Amino acid sequence: MILSKLCTLPAYGLGGKYMSLQFVNSLKSGLQSSAKLSFARTTKVQESTLKNVFNGGVARALRQASSSAASTTTELAPSARKAVGYWLMGCTGMVFGAVMLGGVTRLTESGLSMVDWKLLGRSWPQSEIEWQAELEKYRHYPEFQLKNKDITMSDFKFIWLMEYGHRMWGRLIGATFALPAIYFWTKGYFTKSMRRRVPIFGSLILLQGLMGWYMVKSGLDHKNFEGPSDVPRVSQYRLAAHLGAALVLATLFLYNGLDHLIPAQVVKVTSSVRRVRIMAHVCKGFIFLAAFSGAFVAGLDAGLTYNEFPLMGGRLVPTDLLAYEPKLSNVTENPTTVQFNHRMLGMTVFALVHGLWFATRKAKLPPRAYTAANAMLAMTYLQLTLGIATLLLYVPTPVAASHQTGALTLLSLAVWMTHECKLLKYVPK
Ligand code: HEM
Repeated sequence: MILSKLCTLPAYGLGGKYMSLQFVNSLKSGLQSSAKLSFARTTKVQESTLKNVFNGGVARALRQASSSAASTTTELAPSARKAVGYWLMGCTGMVFGAVMLGGVTRLTESGLSMVDWKLLGRSWPQSEIEWQAELEKYRHYPEFQLKNKDITMSDFKFIWLMEYGHRMWGRLIGATFALPAIYFWTKGYFTKSMRRRVPIFGSLILLQGLMGWYMVKSGLDHKNFEGPSDVPRVSQYRLAAHLGAALVLATLFLYNGLDHLIPAQVVKVTSSVRRVRIMAHVCKGFIFLAAFSGAFVAGLDAGLTYNEFPLMGGRLVPTDLLAYEPKLSNVTENPTTVQFNHRMLGMTVFALVHGLWFATRKAKLPPRAYTAANAMLAMTYLQLTLGIATLLLYVPTPVAASHQTGALTLLSLAVWMTHECKLLKYVPK
């Protein structure tokens, strides 16, 4: 009975059914080797005896589980595991590239220049006549009519090629993902859990492409720009969804890539270790939230109001924070509130990452976890500096693009940190 209780211990969380069984087997062997099995079969057990079992058995079990739980990929040959790992890391890098390119596309106001979309893409205009035809199509849309009436052909070519590059990069991600995925699948290089995940990743990539076009469409619709002060741009909600999905994709690829290349280690947990694990997850969540709220800042051009720090209009809390009705709409529609919330989330991340870093000093963790915590702390300083510089300098493209890339870098480091803490779970004493 006790064994069956132990088998159901969720505490070890070794990455799914397969790992749990591995671990439970290790645990059983630990108990057996400590010659206490008969005791384990009894229903009434002295707590002190149970402690002894754990002291001998669990330590051994943790060591054994470490090598198996080291990854959910132990059934793979090392070469297959590496190949899949590098491929996943390559996909992470490709998504990173897309986020950078998307940021520059938005910051150079290029995103609304291509007014149609084909799933599999098309070639760029091959002659001046084709370029003229492309410009002619653009003339029918709000951005040209409200803002770019005087655009020259060379400027149009620049913004069109920026958007084209971003879209083609997205398709390249699809190919970089799908072709090796098919090869690895047929070769049997995927674990059971990866066979479940790969179709989800593929669907997310496809969805991201569709979402990109859905976002662009909001900037092409005349109905959205009928007011006298309306600025032609995409919906901030769709921009946030598009950026948010890119962040999710990148972190999923990264987490699984790490699982294949540098599997986490099992560590026996003390309360200080548990604190680190919780804090790492909280940091990751808040970094994601800060990045997501940044997309609203970008979508509303809210970085062009209150270009001062730490005050806003000479006050810590600006007067027009709740100027819109209904009040809740301020959170996503009022540039002041959107910028204020983004600052607050940025400062919260700053405080939390410091908290995490200090917590790691007091805990015994796998060596890589310290490196991840140090890198997170350094990146938080850089990210805040870039954010404040973006604001004070009125959103120059290189600084703002670096701030956006910095967000994904910081999130990736947080993912790495949580990955290192993955197998730090509570072991009853
Ligand atoms: C951990 C902290 C932060 C994270 C993760 C973060 C992330 C982001 C992201 C993802 C964007 C969207 C960029 C885009 O789509 O182009 C953004 C925009 C922005 N952020 Fe931050 N940010 C942080 C802190 C700050 C701070 C402290 C400030 C300044 C006080 C700041 C100022 C800005 C500004 C002005 C923009 C708009 C830039 C634009 O229009 O492209 N950020 N941020």
